[in-house]
Amino acid sequence: MRRLFPATQDPDATTDREWEATEIADAYAYPDEHRSGDGWLRADMVSSLDGAAHHGGRSKPLSSPADMRIFGVLRALADVVVVGAETVREEQYRPARRRAEFAERRRAAGQTSVPAIAVVSASLHLDFSLPLFTEPEVPTLVVTGARAPHAGLAAARTAGVEVVTAGDEAGVDPVRLKRELVARGHTRLLTEGGPRLLGQLAAAGVVDELCLATSPRYTVGTAPRLMSGPEIEDPREMLLTDLLEDGGFLFARYRRS
Ligand SMILES: NC(=O)c1ccc[n+]([C@@H]2O[C@H](COP(=O)([O-])OP(=O)(O)OC[C@H]3O[C@@H](n4cnc5c(N)ncnc54)[C@H](OP(=O)(O)O)[C@@H]3O)[C@@H](O)[C@H]2O)c1
Repeated sequence: MRRLFPATQDPDATTDREWEATEIADAYAYPDEHRSGDGWLRADMVSSLDGAAHHGGRSKPLSSPADMRIFGVLRALADVVVVGAETVREEQYRPARRRAEFAERRRAAGQTSVPAIAVVSASLHLDFSLPLFTEPEVPTLVVTGARAPHAGLAAARTAGVEVVTAGDEAGVDPVRLKRELVARGHTRLLTEGGPRLLGQLAAAGVVDELCLATSPRYTVGTAPRLMSGPEIEDPREMLLTDLLEDGGFLFARYRRS
């Protein structure tokens, strides 16, 4: 991995070599603004060269070992990982894993041993007997609307899952989602998508940062883009803050302008 932007004379950053997880963590540290009261919501996504968000329903065919290392480090830096229910179902999500190399860093930052996972769902069609709900180190949350189906609510509560209400209807309001999680002390937020959830978060203007991995592979086909949903009125601009490269993959970091 090597840094392409911002330009630096530091050979440690510009020479292609494998980075330690702690170096990646330093490069991706949350900005101090996460303490602002509004939290800081970062999105981490991988795209094919032609803009596909998955291939055959999985993101793995687009990914690489470096992408997975960054994915893991972004989790290790977060208080909570927000994810859409379809991604949980398609990718068979499991609880976050404790990592020894981040134990001290997380403790010093006042964080739990691993981030909580917050699953966003209106239908609550989730299998509450899965390890994501039964075996997490930090309890998994389900975020839904006030009119969520009773059967799903009962199943979640029976499984001991905390249900967070963040919307007046069945669906979740992205602004309330962020506010509810920040109110629980989760100021370093990370979303891992998928595209339909991210489209809503982005359209509502609550995404502060996008960590975008561009794979040097194309797929053609009809897979969605990273943000899917109704088009917004005017394109919104973000600022490029960092660009790393590894094995032809580009790892860009953009923040809201
Ligand atoms: N390229 C990448 O980096 C990346 C990242 C993540 C996922 N993916 C891929 O993307 C695919 C899944 O993405 P997707 O866009 O279909 O689905 P998604 O965004 O993961 O999940 C959509 C589901 O989330 C829930 N949801 C979303 N917005 C909601 C709201 N406002 N209120 C309540 N619930 C809401 C709904 O769940 P209910 O149906 O339960 O109501 C909805 O069906 C998978 O193939 C996965 O591999 C790729």
